[in-house]
Amino acid sequence: MFVSGRRVKKWQFMQLFATCFILSLMVFWRPIDDRIVSHMKSYSYRYLINSYSFVNDTLSLKHTSDGARYQYLINHEDKCQAQDVLLLLFVKTAPENHGRRSAIRKTWGNEKYVRSQLNANIKTLFALGAPSPSQGEGLQRKLVWEDQLYNDIIQQDFVDSFYNLTLKFLLQFSWANTFCPHAKFLMTADDDIFIHMPNLIAYLQSLEQMGVQDFWIGRVHRGAPPVRDKSSKYFVSHEMYQWPAYPDYTAGAAYIISSDVAAKIYEASQTLNSSLYIDDVFMGLCANKMRVVPQDHVFFSGEGKTPYHPCIYDKMMTSHGHVQDLQDLWKDATDPKVKTISKGFFGQLYCRLIKIVLLCRLTYVDTYPCRAAFV
Ligand SMILES: *[C@@H]1O[C@H](CO)[C@@H](O)[C@H](O)[C@H]1NC(C)=O
Ligand SMILES: *[C@@H]1O[C@H](CO)[C@@H](O)[C@H](O)[C@H]1NC(C)=O
Ligand SMILES: *[C@@H]1O[C@H](CO)[C@@H](O)[C@H](O)[C@H]1NC(C)=O
Repeated sequence: MFVSGRRVKKWQFMQLFATCFILSLMVFWRPIDDRIVSHMKSYSYRYLINSYSFVNDTLSLKHTSDGARYQYLINHEDKCQAQDVLLLLFVKTAPENHGRRSAIRKTWGNEKYVRSQLNANIKTLFALGAPSPSQGEGLQRKLVWEDQLYNDIIQQDFVDSFYNLTLKFLLQFSWANTFCPHAKFLMTADDDIFIHMPNLIAYLQSLEQMGVQDFWIGRVHRGAPPVRDKSSKYFVSHEMYQWPAYPDYTAGAAYIISSDVAAKIYEASQTLNSSLYIDDVFMGLCANKMRVVPQDHVFFSGEGKTPYHPCIYDKMMTSHGHVQDLQDLWKDATDPKVKTISKGFFGQLYCRLIKIVLLCRLTYVDTYPCRAAFV
């Protein structure tokens, strides 16, 4: 078909231009697969084309998987029986991380604290796979014993490892779908993060009152390129994923979705090839298939730790990389005095200035963005 130049609408021209640009990038620059090029390719793809329908077609399975590939070693089918569950909280943990689980039980994962102090019903579950054979039988016995004390572990019989994170993802979403579809929100979190439960619960309660749906929040990665460097932990082969950018997704360290989204993601997860082992990217692919888009929340941290200051505690939701300091941070950040510091005109002014100083630095620290100082 030939269309005269004048009749080509502006956007059609833009689209044509973008497509040629991307194609030439892919053809000529493919051999120079370094970070800058891959980011240029992925951002151009994300911001100029941003269509992933062929991802959808290529990664879709011919037959829906039966969803029961792995058996439960430890399970609590009745854990979520109460009707008014506000939040189903999954903590992704590894068999040997007993210390981290124990600290989480005393702090942000504590259901009793949330019920008595925050007047909400949450269910905390630690999701894990089986110890590897080299870790020995003893570790599994310890896990069973730990679970008998706390009744908060779910475990399936795949080997727990980084490259099996997507299996852990499927464990969480199928558990939620089967045993807790009525929880208003679902959150998944790493076992080395900090969650400011009082702030989070207040936020979720206000969303629940508005009857929010189609909700997915966290630290959003836009136009992230697959890592093609074979020595990286996050290496993804062309065979596994051939396109220059992933659909938008939230960092797996901590994100929250509403129950309608959880149901959609579960449905999609049963129809996509789950060999891509980066679990948050896989979540992004599922969401993309169901046309769910993530929203960024400025107080969900990136890779970095929160600055230690009451003015930040007043607003923070999550912070990354807390193991040794978890219990101290919990004590400081949930102290009722934190709420009084930003009260009144001078309190607000003081905290605004502190946040600008702490967050708007020239040297980049991946915690909260500078704009978090202004919300
Ligand atoms: C992906 O494919 C399904 C059908 O298999 C379709 O319903 C859905 O809209 C598609 N999503 C996108 C983003 O194209
Ligand atoms: C993932 O789990 C399966 C099933 O237990 C196991 O065969 C496989 O070796 C595991 N993969 C890795 C990389 O540990
Ligand atoms: C999933 O994709 C991988 C390539 O990453 C391929 O080897 C495998 O056969 C696919 N699985 C299914 C069930 O299509």
